[in-house]
Amino acid sequence: GITRHYRFDIRMANVTRLCHTKSIVTVTGQFPGPKIVAREGDRVVVKVVNHVQYNVTLHWHGVRQLRSGWADGPAYVTQCPIRRGQSYVYNFTIVAQRGTLFWHAHISWLRATLYGPIIILPARGVPYPFSKPYKEVPIVFGEWWNADTEAVISQALQTGGGPNVSDAYTINGLPGPLYNCSAKDTFKLKVKPGKTYLLRMINAALNDELFFSIANHTLTIVDVDAVYVKPFDTDTLILAPGQTTNVLLRSKPSFPHATFLMAARPYATGSGTFDNSTVSGFLEYQDPRTSSTASFNKKLPLFKPSLPSLNDTAFVANFTSRLRSLATAQFPAKVPRTVERQFFFTVGLGTSPCPKNQTCQGPNGTKFAATVSNISFAMPTTALLQAHFFGQSKRVYSPDFPYSPLIPFNYTGSPPNNTLVSNGTKLMVLPYNTTVELVMQDTSILGAESHPLHLHGFNFFVVGQGFGNYNPAKDPARFNLVDPVERNTVGVPAGGWVAIRFRADNPGVWFMHCHLEVHTSWGLKMAWLVLDGSLPNQKLPPPPSDLPNC
Ligand code: C2O
Repeated sequence: GITRHYRFDIRMANVTRLCHTKSIVTVTGQFPGPKIVAREGDRVVVKVVNHVQYNVTLHWHGVRQLRSGWADGPAYVTQCPIRRGQSYVYNFTIVAQRGTLFWHAHISWLRATLYGPIIILPARGVPYPFSKPYKEVPIVFGEWWNADTEAVISQALQTGGGPNVSDAYTINGLPGPLYNCSAKDTFKLKVKPGKTYLLRMINAALNDELFFSIANHTLTIVDVDAVYVKPFDTDTLILAPGQTTNVLLRSKPSFPHATFLMAARPYATGSGTFDNSTVSGFLEYQDPRTSSTASFNKKLPLFKPSLPSLNDTAFVANFTSRLRSLATAQFPAKVPRTVERQFFFTVGLGTSPCPKNQTCQGPNGTKFAATVSNISFAMPTTALLQAHFFGQSKRVYSPDFPYSPLIPFNYTGSPPNNTLVSNGTKLMVLPYNTTVELVMQDTSILGAESHPLHLHGFNFFVVGQGFGNYNPAKDPARFNLVDPVERNTVGVPAGGWVAIRFRADNPGVWFMHCHLEVHTSWGLKMAWLVLDGSLPNQKLPPPPSDLPNC
């Protein structure tokens, strides 16, 4: 591989959406941010220089970061923030991954505007396991707030209530014609008849899983989270925040004299408020004879896609069950056949007592909290990985995250009277190369809600999923150890459970959290500490000299 150098200057820029101009945090004035392109095996070196008043870190979501944990990026987990006037160089190699991932800010809610694609091409000379596309197009979903998002979340955390919902969803930063004042801010995918396009899709929205469809066209799913899957056709796909997918779009064989709408809107299971609006864009054909475009304005017929209803959990369960690893000799599914450690975590919402003299807007005057195994994660004020590496862990975290929740709970029965949670900075410690099975159960305490859980530093295999209570006596018999999908973000189903397996072959501190940003802010997060192995190539190297201090 080669080394690819990027320089990301973090600067404010004025951006107008929905007839509203605001100053947002960007990489060199671009919104959405620039794309990173690399081949499998390449080294990527990104110098980030912070010129804004906010503390910043960037995360390379889904990049495995083998023995490069110092470059992972979550604030107070692997590094202290980059302050104004400071810089930090993220330096990592892309190993055995190809597809689409994305980078985003990993501190507070800055990822609302700081995000962009990571395009990983196969190594030179290695073909795709599907027919070569005519063109490749990134499709990045986001969310737009007219208000300042840092103010939105800090106000919500102070009052203990829920944050304001966004004002629009976006495709490549554009809300599209179904929103006020946005007809000119519409994404247009221009295609020629009879060609195959590879859509590199990313859900960078903060708080919503999204359904997506293009009217009168079929999508062929060929990979998720930068891992190939057995291709399958669908009219509609579901993508949770933190998930990515590559899909093939075959354009119609001849010029269709029509325009087609593409649209995305949320899959919403929570009891809280959400933005139920729709982002849309156009699929426009270029007439091969006149090379004019069948654009929306030209009074051609317009076809609209139909999307599942807002809470269509059955669609989601069916779609996710169709995702299977290729599991070929060239792309084997290295599922751990046996496991050395088994964990059962609950994930869900709860409430915390409110500090004195404060009016909290959560249930019964409490504040909203979210937990893994009833523990709402308390962020430290220094980075966990630094504390571990320099032997200062005692003051920063405790290595005693429980194997299963301390208070057992009947997840599908009536909710307990006491939904209060405890706070803590607890890590789960794993010896190098441990094989792990983790079952995550949605608690449904404040309503059954889907949670897209993201694990840093690893891909995992989704060996099982189901509704109701996980049954350790029965369910493992149905686990798929042959061709389960391999990914980095998985939806814990609303009112159900999911089982994953992975091998802890990457020393470091690895964050795991719900990729719905509001739940992360409320504490639905924890971290794994994977210890060094005994051989030199099984150890985390020392930090780079420019690693920021807290
Ligand atoms: Cu995409 Cu910890 O995040």
